[in-house]
Amino acid sequence: MPYDIKDINLSQMGQDRIAWAERDMPVLRQIRQRFADEKPLAGTKVAACLHVTTETANLVLTLKAGGADVVLCASNPLSTQDDVAAALVQKYEIPVFAIKGEDNDTYYKHLNAALDTNPNITMDDGADLVSLILTKRKHQAKEIWGSMEETTTGVIRLRAMEKQKMLEFPVVAINDTPTKHFFDNRYGTGQSTLDGILRATNFLFAGKYVVVAGYGWCGRGVASRARGLGAKVIVTEIDPLKALEATMDGFEVLPMLDAARSGDMFITVTGDIHVLREEHFKVMKEGAIICNSGHFNVEIDLEALSHLSVSRRSARAFVEEYKLSDGKNIYVLADGRLVNIAAAEGHPACVMDMSFANQSLMSEWVVKNHGQLEAKVYDIPTAIDEHISTLKLASLGIKIDSLTDEQSKYLNDWQMGT
Ligand code: ADE
Repeated sequence: MPYDIKDINLSQMGQDRIAWAERDMPVLRQIRQRFADEKPLAGTKVAACLHVTTETANLVLTLKAGGADVVLCASNPLSTQDDVAAALVQKYEIPVFAIKGEDNDTYYKHLNAALDTNPNITMDDGADLVSLILTKRKHQAKEIWGSMEETTTGVIRLRAMEKQKMLEFPVVAINDTPTKHFFDNRYGTGQSTLDGILRATNFLFAGKYVVVAGYGWCGRGVASRARGLGAKVIVTEIDPLKALEATMDGFEVLPMLDAARSGDMFITVTGDIHVLREEHFKVMKEGAIICNSGHFNVEIDLEALSHLSVSRRSARAFVEEYKLSDGKNIYVLADGRLVNIAAAEGHPACVMDMSFANQSLMSEWVVKNHGQLEAKVYDIPTAIDEHISTLKLASLGIKIDSLTDEQSKYLNDWQMGT
């Protein structure tokens, strides 16, 4: 079995950590048990390009239990947990092509190795496999029954491709379903971003000015968790509605140039390019710390920061000190890549449980429906989303009310009086 990982000897630690995550993934566990009985993915080949974490390992094992042949590569050069990669290869015979810290060439070599298995289902976190197929490996497009997209940034790209009639096979917007982004993006990114910052810096949030760029689902999570730790949170936005929401949620909203003067910590979660740039670096305070939790490492203009700097050095793991010509230091975490995955472990298993339940059930849906699907972006059927929230609630031991007959009738009958 071909694979390319850092060190196979890490496999026992990886297996233990995968089992630890599984404890907190009860919905995925139930799906895995059913998949093992019914084998709904028998005969399919899945290539997954995801962050190689303990939670992803549980997804991959679920797909395998369903009868799929699965290959895994990383969706970010810094996000691989090398012990997990080793365990998947040695303990579960799943080919993995991923090494934490791999360079760009190796990253793409690994993506190509995954596509060399000729998959009929692909999974992306950032649309890299789809982009590679549609640009450099076009001959494979007709073999793809469906492709899953995990993240906001990827779905935005895929919808743009759909508009330009570029898509050649169906894709599923996993990110856009409520059981994904209400929880994974908000509570997952919220907590894991602070976790990454804390592990990298041991920063005290209480009393500090924390600037959160972007008030989408991820930004909301980050801002609310930072406030929970006692920070004075400033939000920056370009969208008037989101800015209004942030204001009424009690945050100060400022243009970045103003926020840049007071921030102690800057966290970008916008999905856009150069949100922090030269004009902002120039007015930042001595010792400002900047980091990113958006999908791509483009939100901080590191080239501009380098140009303003006379020297740089590693201050500690995941912390790079830039000394500017005016004498001040600015600290960049995790090279401007996803701080929550590079410096911590990504989102907790409890929320990835729902995200990856969606991935599993939609893989089954693609297999069942692939003859009828078109080359467009599909949303997850509401019934699947409701099924997942029902299972998750039950796993948490939470009971809710159900409608009485009278209430159902009232809600369905517009003629009933007010
Ligand atoms: N994205 C964010 N957190 C993740 C995790 N723990 N596993 C896989 N993908 C993730």
